[in-house]
Amino acid sequence: MTRTVYVNGEYLPEDQAKVSIFDRGFLFADGVYEVTSVLGGKLIDFDGHAVRLERSLKELQMTAPLTKDELLDIHRELVTRNDVTDGMIYLQITRGADADRDFVFPSDDVPSTVVLFTQSKPGLAESPTAQKGIKVISIEDQRWGRRDIKTVQLLYPSMGKMMAKAAGCDDAWMVEDGHVTEGTSNNAYFIKGNTIVTRPLSNDILHGITRAAVLRFAEEAQMKIDERLFTIEEAQGADEAFITSASTFVMPVVEIDGKPVGEGNVGPMATRLREIYLDESRKAAI
Ligand code: PDD
Repeated sequence: MTRTVYVNGEYLPEDQAKVSIFDRGFLFADGVYEVTSVLGGKLIDFDGHAVRLERSLKELQMTAPLTKDELLDIHRELVTRNDVTDGMIYLQITRGADADRDFVFPSDDVPSTVVLFTQSKPGLAESPTAQKGIKVISIEDQRWGRRDIKTVQLLYPSMGKMMAKAAGCDDAWMVEDGHVTEGTSNNAYFIKGNTIVTRPLSNDILHGITRAAVLRFAEEAQMKIDERLFTIEEAQGADEAFITSASTFVMPVVEIDGKPVGEGNVGPMATRLREIYLDESRKAAI
């Protein structure tokens, strides 16, 4: 089945979807994105992603080209047209295509470019990786200073994944001034006793939608949350560690820089958090 994608108001077969070579997303990485997961044909945390999208656009002085309801309709239409049961929807909005390459933002009458496509991943929530956990390395955080805005500048995270792959690992945790910021495409945590430790929200990290939900559920499950700076050594000495994102949900981390976390196995707390997150998110899915 040819995938149907959405480009600027049209639903098209993927091989007929086109964007200008002058698009600022292409020339300047001048655009923002969201990834929303789909489980059982329904959208997980759509509201959270829509609110963050609005904020990212505002921070970059971009006008939202579509309302939340219009975006919801497009997401649902793509799920239906592509028969997606489990997977993700990728959305990207750029500052559009000006007449030429120019560092200066174009005038407001240049329409933004809106692209959405589905990624079908049957059994996404039953990922075998969650049973064995992932291994991460640490790398220096060399990204820009507004990581709270979900821009499409993903070259350094992409390089980080490649460094992890070269080291025989799955991902990289980025470190700035001795403290972990986040994973290349996820938020980072460790658990010691009954306490979950994670970096507080600031411009240094993306304000994960999964993070917000998981911390809320953890509190409801009587776990303590300590939002503070932490080091790789602390995480290595923890009982458990994990990451969160819209595509991995809660994913246990069993090794950091070659050192096992706890027993080096997937622990009970991360497993429980994953279950709670998936159960609650499925219930609230729209
Ligand atoms: N990444 N931190 C970074 C740097 C991210 O890129 C992401 C998401 C997260 C987690 O945010 P959320 O829980 O809202 O997905 C944290 C997406 C999944 C991606 O780039 O594919």
